[in-house]
Amino acid sequence: MMKMKSVGILGMGYYAPPKVMTNFDLEKMVDTNDAWITERTGIKERHIAADGVPMSELAYRAAVAALEDAKTSAEELDLIIVATLTSDRIIPSTASILQDRLGAKNAAAFDLSAACSGFIYSSVIADQFIGNGTYKKILVIGAETLSKYVDWTDRNTCILFGDGAGAAVYGEVEDGLGILSFDLGSDGSGGDVLDIPASGSLHPASAEVLEKRLNYIHMDGKAVYRFAVKVMGKTVLSSLEKIGMSEGEIDWLVPHQANIRIIEAAAKRLSMPMERVIINIAKYGNMSAASIPVALAEAAKESRFKKGDVIALAGFGAGLTWGSCIMKWAKED
Ligand code: UT7
Repeated sequence: MMKMKSVGILGMGYYAPPKVMTNFDLEKMVDTNDAWITERTGIKERHIAADGVPMSELAYRAAVAALEDAKTSAEELDLIIVATLTSDRIIPSTASILQDRLGAKNAAAFDLSAACSGFIYSSVIADQFIGNGTYKKILVIGAETLSKYVDWTDRNTCILFGDGAGAAVYGEVEDGLGILSFDLGSDGSGGDVLDIPASGSLHPASAEVLEKRLNYIHMDGKAVYRFAVKVMGKTVLSSLEKIGMSEGEIDWLVPHQANIRIIEAAAKRLSMPMERVIINIAKYGNMSAASIPVALAEAAKESRFKKGDVIALAGFGAGLTWGSCIMKWAKED
């Protein structure tokens, strides 16, 4: 079906749990130090959900804030998509849990699995459904409680991740604003470089799984780093090419927040000055699918975007997956 309408963000919200874990706290847990973490990653602290607080709680709070910002009632929603790799349960989907909790009685609901690229994948789905006139309002949430899947004895991974949620309500916007183009991709041959090996159907829960710590995040950091540096600039350039724009026309880059050095490399490739890059990694660490929407929502709340500003979102993650989209900010400040 042809796209007939311009689709953009009507409102956003975000939430991070109150408990903060600093690099100094981590020094007491594993053989690491603040200087190493700061230099190699740009992370100073991350938020951690308390025991018993599931991902849906964070997602719910971000969703309520986004609906309020968008002046949209839950009954108006046609669809809820939760991008996550840390669902509350394998079934039901967290989107269905939220559909009930929000009272979104007219909404379909599903979770989307594309790891850190999930918010961009989900935003593109919203763009298609609203653009072709099937749906009017879609709630897209990127939310994670990665702290519950991190091996707190593994210094290679435990220093990197944090918990949080960001949400956006998508709807029809003024002609020419909103999402202009996108690029999505996957290279499944890299599936083993970043995974949680067990708890799915390959290795269901067992004593052996626990003993071998297969229910935690496993990562070949260097391999992911090399992939990320290559793909971040490339995906934005391919989104730009589809609409005949050049990198000089981007006002803001909102990258996935995995490592400050990856962000700097992407900015360099796109000839973007760092003042034009939205960065919050020091405060939150890597929140996977939540990183981009939290960065976007926080910057919007700080009134950094003007209506019409050209914003490039760019992400990469497990799968391997990647994605970018170019949008013109559609909200009045
Ligand atoms: O959302 C996507 C998810 N993942 C990513 O984006 C991760 C991408 N990769 C990275 O960000 C980086 O590869 C890391 C931050 C994970 C690691 O940085 P690196 O510069 O690639 O370090 P390295 O793994 O090469 O380790 C260098 C040294 C090693 O010691 P030796 O072998 O040189 O003696 C590590 O054992 O640093 C050591 N090391 C640490 N030292 C202190 C590794 N982790 C730590 C640590 N504290 N936490």
